[in-house]
Order: sequence, then structure tokens, then C-alpha cells
Amino acid sequence: MRSAEIQVQLFIVRLRKVMPVCHLLSMRRFIVPLMVVGLISTGILKLPMFNTNPKPVMMPVDPSHRERVHAYVRSVLTQECRPSFARKMIEGMCSSSVPIAEPFLQKNSNLTEKIFEYPPPFGFHNLQHKLQDILDLIPISSSENTGRRDCRRCVVVGNGGILRGLELGSYLNQFDVILRLNSGPVRDFSRDVGNRTTIRMSYPEGSPKIWEDVDAQLQFVAVIYKAVDFNWLHAMLSGTTVSLWDKLFFWQKVPSSIPVDPSKFHILNPAIIREAALDLLHYPKPKLQQWGWDQNVPTLGLSAVNLATYLCDEVSLAGFGYNLMQKETSLHYYDNLPMTAMLKEAMHNVDHETMFLRRLVSAGGVLDLTGGVNCSFCST
Ligand SMILES: *[C@@H]1O[C@H](CO)[C@@H](O)[C@H](O)[C@H]1NC(C)=O
Ligand SMILES: *[C@@H]1O[C@H](CO)[C@@H](O)[C@H](O)[C@H]1NC(C)=O
Ligand SMILES: *[C@@H]1O[C@H](CO)[C@@H](O)[C@H](O)[C@H]1NC(C)=O
Repeated sequence: MRSAEIQVQLFIVRLRKVMPVCHLLSMRRFIVPLMVVGLISTGILKLPMFNTNPKPVMMPVDPSHRERVHAYVRSVLTQECRPSFARKMIEGMCSSSVPIAEPFLQKNSNLTEKIFEYPPPFGFHNLQHKLQDILDLIPISSSENTGRRDCRRCVVVGNGGILRGLELGSYLNQFDVILRLNSGPVRDFSRDVGNRTTIRMSYPEGSPKIWEDVDAQLQFVAVIYKAVDFNWLHAMLSGTTVSLWDKLFFWQKVPSSIPVDPSKFHILNPAIIREAALDLLHYPKPKLQQWGWDQNVPTLGLSAVNLATYLCDEVSLAGFGYNLMQKETSLHYYDNLPMTAMLKEAMHNVDHETMFLRRLVSAGGVLDLTGGVNCSFCST
């Protein structure tokens, strides 16, 4: 069942990539579930690539490669931390971007008109009331991120299969901030990915159904991709259930609770995603077409990297990209979906992001611990 769900998810990811991302709020809600139901019933979802019957594809990691990765991560952890480094590098590369004052929105935030210019995930166009309802449920948090303290070193842990077998867990645990995405699990994978989580960032469908993080200080960063995500968030914050009607608009089952105190919830400022799309990736501005908004949306991973440059002084990546020497590896560190089928397409469609990250890593702005983006320690 779970793998069927993932397949549907993958299929939608594929659809999104193939089609121009068309965020017509009302139409898309219906079209996506209908299309999936239709495709399942007509058997199109049983495309050959989904029939490969994923088996554990345990490619043993070359021990000398693993040792090089460890040596690199040790060197990153022992270097002196450079204050505001990642942010300065990004701003150097993208001079057009105006720094965002608050990465998270709060009750007392200054909500400028710009925030309401575009629909989610770039803004909250026509969603003033929903936003205000949510912000009212979240206590104002102390200016933890503004009253600057020591230099903070962060790692954004992507969910890529490249993490598997590298045994980086105890190293990743040593970062000041460990940002994980969606339902990237820790319990059975701590040897490779560590067991601390400082920030978990996700949208409703991607959020963990089984909550594994145990860190007392964990912060949950909610990303709003569509209007109905506010309704889910409202239910999570108030301990109520998501209505059956709302459930129709999610393309995958959503968790019925997030066991995190409301004071630890944060609403991602959509300006983070807007900046990633327009200033970092140079995507065209969202356009209102006759049938709705036409916009290119960055992945959650890239949005998280941009967020990290605001929260942290130095930013490292783990689990991003692919080890091209190891095409047999799995797509995620926690499942056995093969990468091979996805590889060609993924390489093609996330070209833009990959190229941006590669530039950022080559320039030294962020550090690629697992070498899938641009490996500075691999022997070639
Ligand atoms: C909002 O803007 C005002 C004036 O520009 C400023 O004094 C205030 O500190 C801002 N509030 C926040 C939460 O940033
Ligand atoms: C992580 O694992 C270590 C060693 O097994 C344990 O001591 C620690 O309490 C764990 N921390 C979390 C947050 O799970
Ligand atoms: C990776 O970065 C190095 C500089 O660290 C650069 O010389 C090399 O061309 C980059 N490789 C790719 C594939 O971008």
C-alpha cells in the first residue's frame, strides 16, 4: 500500500515536471485527484517503470569513498565557522535579491502588500483571513533568530539515496541546526542520517504519518502550497480533525496530528520560495492566465536551502544530488524505489536547480557533504 502511494506521488511529481506547473487553485484540486483515479483505473499507472518490482538495491559503499566523505565532514566541522557566510555568498551571486526580514511569519509580522501579490507558494493572494486565523493560533516566539548569538552551522538533510551506507549519522548530529524535509525518517536510519532534528519542514501531504522526532526543541516549519493547506494546519494547531471535504483536495493521505506544541510551529514566509524562484533560479514571474496562475515552483529542498541561509551562518547539504558512479542506488535513503528509471528525467527536469546548486557549491557558498551536487573530495 505504502509503495503504491509513493508511486502515485512519484507519478504526480512526474506530471508536475512534464507539464508547466499550473497552479490554478480550484481547478487543480479536482484535476489531480481525478487524473490519478482515472489513471489507476485505466492501468496507465502500471507503466513499465513501475513494474520493476523494487527490490532492496543494496549497493555496498566503497569503504575508501566512505572514508573520504568522513574526512571531509570532519574538516567542515572543525573549521572555524564564518558568520553570515552563506547569506553573503548568495547575495553576491544574486545581487537583485533584497534580504527578507523574517523567514517566518508571526502575528506581529509586518505583512506587506508584496506577500499578497501571488498565490501560494509564492504568496498569500486573497488569503489574508486564512493567514490571520492561523497566525492567531501560534504564540509569538521570542526573537531567537534575531538576537544573534554564536555562529551557527547548519545541515540541510535531503532524502536522497546517496546518504545510504555512508554512516554519517554521528557527524550530522554534531551540527548546530539539523533541518530535515517532509517525512525523512530517523529511527531506523540513524546510523546514516543521525537522530537529531532541529527543524522539520514540510507541507501537509509530505508530513510524517508516524512521528519519530523526539527532540524537545524541535521546530516544525509549515509550507503552504495551496489554500487548503491552511485548513489542515488549522486542524493540526487546534487539535481538531480535517474535514472530509478538505481531504479531497490533498493528493495523498495527510497526517491527522502533528505532536508538536503550537509554540514550535512556524509558517514559512512565502517570500523565501518567491526569492528562490525569481532571484536564485531566475524563473519567470507568476502570470495570471485565463485558466489560472502559471508558475514554476522550486522544490522543497531548494526552498529549505534558501531558508537555511537566513537561519544559519554556514550551510551544508547532505543527501542532495546523485552519485553518478552508482546508478543502482535507490531514490531515497529510506526506500527501495530504484533511481535508474528516474535518473534521466530527474537530471533533465531539475536541471535548473541542479545547476544553481552546483554553482553555489563550486563557489563554496554551501558545502556538499555527500558529494552528489559537486564533489570536492572525490577522486576523478
Ligand atoms: C514592523 O515595522 C515597523 C516600522 O517599520 C517596525 O518598527 C517594527 O519593528 C516591525 N515589526 C516587526 C515584527 O518586524
Ligand atoms: C540519539 O542517539 C544517541 C545514541 O544512541 C542517544 O544517546 C540520544 O539520546 C539520541 N538522541 C535523540 C534526539 O534521539
Ligand atoms: C565542481 O567544483 C569545482 C571547483 O570546486 C569545479 O572546478 C568543477 O568544474 C565543478 N564540477 C562541476 C561538475 O560543476
